[in-house]
Amino acid sequence: MPAMKKKLCLVTFGCQMNVHDSQRMEDLMRDAGYEVVPEVEGADVVILNTCSVREKGEQKLRSEAGKLKKADTVLVVAGCVAQQEGEALLKSMPFIDVVVGPDNLQELPALVREAELGGPSTVRTVFDVDAPHFLTNSVAPGAAGASAYVTVMKGCDERCSFCVVPYTRGPERYRPADDIVAEVRALVEGGTREVVLLGQTVNSFLDPTVALPADRDPDESQFPELLRRIAAEAPGLDRLRYTSPHPRHLTASLVRAHADLAVLSTHVHMPVQSGSDRVLKRMIRRYTRAEYVRRVTALRAARPELTLSTDIIVGFPGETRDDFDLTLSLVRELQFVSLYGFKYSVRPHTPALKLDDDVPEGEKQSRLLALFEVSEAQTRAHLATLVGARVELLIEGPSRPGAATWSGRTRANEIVHVAGGEGVGPGAVVVAEVARANKHSLEGRVESVRIPAATRVQPTFRRIALPVVTA
Ligand code: 5AD
Repeated sequence: MPAMKKKLCLVTFGCQMNVHDSQRMEDLMRDAGYEVVPEVEGADVVILNTCSVREKGEQKLRSEAGKLKKADTVLVVAGCVAQQEGEALLKSMPFIDVVVGPDNLQELPALVREAELGGPSTVRTVFDVDAPHFLTNSVAPGAAGASAYVTVMKGCDERCSFCVVPYTRGPERYRPADDIVAEVRALVEGGTREVVLLGQTVNSFLDPTVALPADRDPDESQFPELLRRIAAEAPGLDRLRYTSPHPRHLTASLVRAHADLAVLSTHVHMPVQSGSDRVLKRMIRRYTRAEYVRRVTALRAARPELTLSTDIIVGFPGETRDDFDLTLSLVRELQFVSLYGFKYSVRPHTPALKLDDDVPEGEKQSRLLALFEVSEAQTRAHLATLVGARVELLIEGPSRPGAATWSGRTRANEIVHVAGGEGVGPGAVVVAEVARANKHSLEGRVESVRIPAATRVQPTFRRIALPVVTA
């Protein structure tokens, strides 16, 4: 009788990079003989992949970890809180078995094995600055997803004053363009139809194998060339997206790439953070409102059907009601179709620690709600314009695990739910008529199947919805 496989459950918080890291941890642990299960209950190993971009993420870790305190489980804390807190996590939660940072994930199976054998708790949080390693998709037959994340760069050299990421993900390191293109090609051959390029400032990409001229414009990166290479060398790719870009690197050459490359999504998420120059300056964002507007206006001119979403922080130190009103006016002016809104949250190590967190919690909350009201109205109005339209959908997977309907995305990243039918399934490309708009998604009827679902394509559960305002 074959030995029972040990059960592993991964709980993921935070951004797409964490989702990608979790997918890679699943691959590593499956290869090491574990069975991945959806529920924490009954799992032999639980990995909490954490986020520290706001304080709330840390609180979530503490409450999730606390629930497992007495359980006979190997508890692993991975991700940004692991990197940020390291040894300190063991002091406050000695029942944690393994603390592992984002650059040490390959060691995970060995670290878990040691813990299973009764070894002491371990902490591995070393940045691979000299010889960066990038986690890649497993493209074994049958393993390709309808949509896949591909890492382009990691770390961040910006010093936005609110942001902990440079301290949890380390300095910028880039992957050779040849490796990125090869991974995309392998995915496409495996049945993947959409690739989402990932990086903390994805559009700052520079090919580490190419020497740069000394007089290079620091805003210009080699990201546009990378997009062109992917389009040319992986012609079977249906859709190409990227996240998260920095407005500073939204240069004329990136705008031209959007004009030229049909494969690029007609939706871009471009975090602006504030509509007030005074606040942008204190945030060390390195652009003004007018510069941001100019850059995204050029992008829209290059691709008129393009929609935009953004990230906004309310209640940053020193933000007045007038500053906030400028943010609201920018949201209206640029007609973002959706946005993520956050209350400023003090983060360790960040330059903004020197500023007084002086906007009262109640005021932060009321600004967030005011932002929510404006953006929800814009989302509603945008989705309503699509009712009756014919859209092309890439089907990613069931609407929810076990659901009877399928969830797909348009080229502009709207989520559309459709009923099943012949050829409809993960990886299918279908034409649907939009019948109805919900708050953050659409419902449609499949009219025709352009590319039927392939049995070798796995459903993709992105676990991250269309941007919404969150408290
Ligand atoms: N407080 C609130 N929001 C933050 N973000 C990053 N750091 C903080 C913070 N300290 C938001 C930004 C960023 C998104 C991922 O999280 O809007 O774009």
